[in-house]
Amino acid sequence: MDWGMKNRLSRIIKPDTGRTVMLAVDHGYFLGATSGLEEPGKTIKPLLPYADSLMLTRGVLRTSLAAENDIPIVLRVSGGTSIIGKSLSDEGITVSMEDALRLNVSAVALSIFVGTEYEKQTLLSLSKLVDVGEKYGIPVLAVTAVGKEMNRDVRYLSLCCRIAAELGAHFVKTYYCENFTQVVKECPVPIVIAGGKKIEERAALELAFCAARDGAVGVDMGRNIFQSDCPQGMLRAVREIVHKKAKVEQAFELYESIKNR
Ligand code: 5RP
Repeated sequence: MDWGMKNRLSRIIKPDTGRTVMLAVDHGYFLGATSGLEEPGKTIKPLLPYADSLMLTRGVLRTSLAAENDIPIVLRVSGGTSIIGKSLSDEGITVSMEDALRLNVSAVALSIFVGTEYEKQTLLSLSKLVDVGEKYGIPVLAVTAVGKEMNRDVRYLSLCCRIAAELGAHFVKTYYCENFTQVVKECPVPIVIAGGKKIEERAALELAFCAARDGAVGVDMGRNIFQSDCPQGMLRAVREIVHKKAKVEQAFELYESIKNR
């Protein structure tokens, strides 16, 4: 891995802990103004000090984040679908590497839809993105989306993560599952977990704790942060778990104390 690629990846996965707390706010690329992201700039601003990086689209980056911010950006570069369209799996590449470079991003992110009718196109998109990422030293994050018909189990998630790594993804985002240690063992690149649909705060902290305990290098959470009663409290509590190895109880107390302040 060349110097530039390593340097960019180290902006996201912090060298001092080998961990990362990414904030995902890219949901609008197919969901539109989802709850909690109606005004992205307002959602993001108070959370910036506590996120190691932001995963977002170029549209939100350009309109809703001041360029003076030094937070590392993971740019969502796949899409082309919508929640009211025929299929969420029918994604293509929506951003050129030239525009990603212009935006000074630290990594680019693309979803793959293994097991769906669009698996080939999304896996070939990943392969092309890795080619151009390697050319310019931009790490590629493969997001393993789970089609409706798929089980979010160790067999499926291990298959997706391993395929992504084999095709050259530099890190992978997937979901936590039973026997998650097997997913980690069988994937030769770092794994972060998405939070998935909003759940109770304590359960979301439990998810982050188990994922970190079982080998994930961190999280790239969205809805469980910006849809919680206290987004800043949640993000800070997740940081305690991921970077300081806090127990769930400790982290939840921190969340509650910030929420009640
Ligand atoms: C949406 C995404 C999100 O980045 C990913 O799902 C993480 O967000 P959340 O924690 O809300 O699941 O890829 O398609």
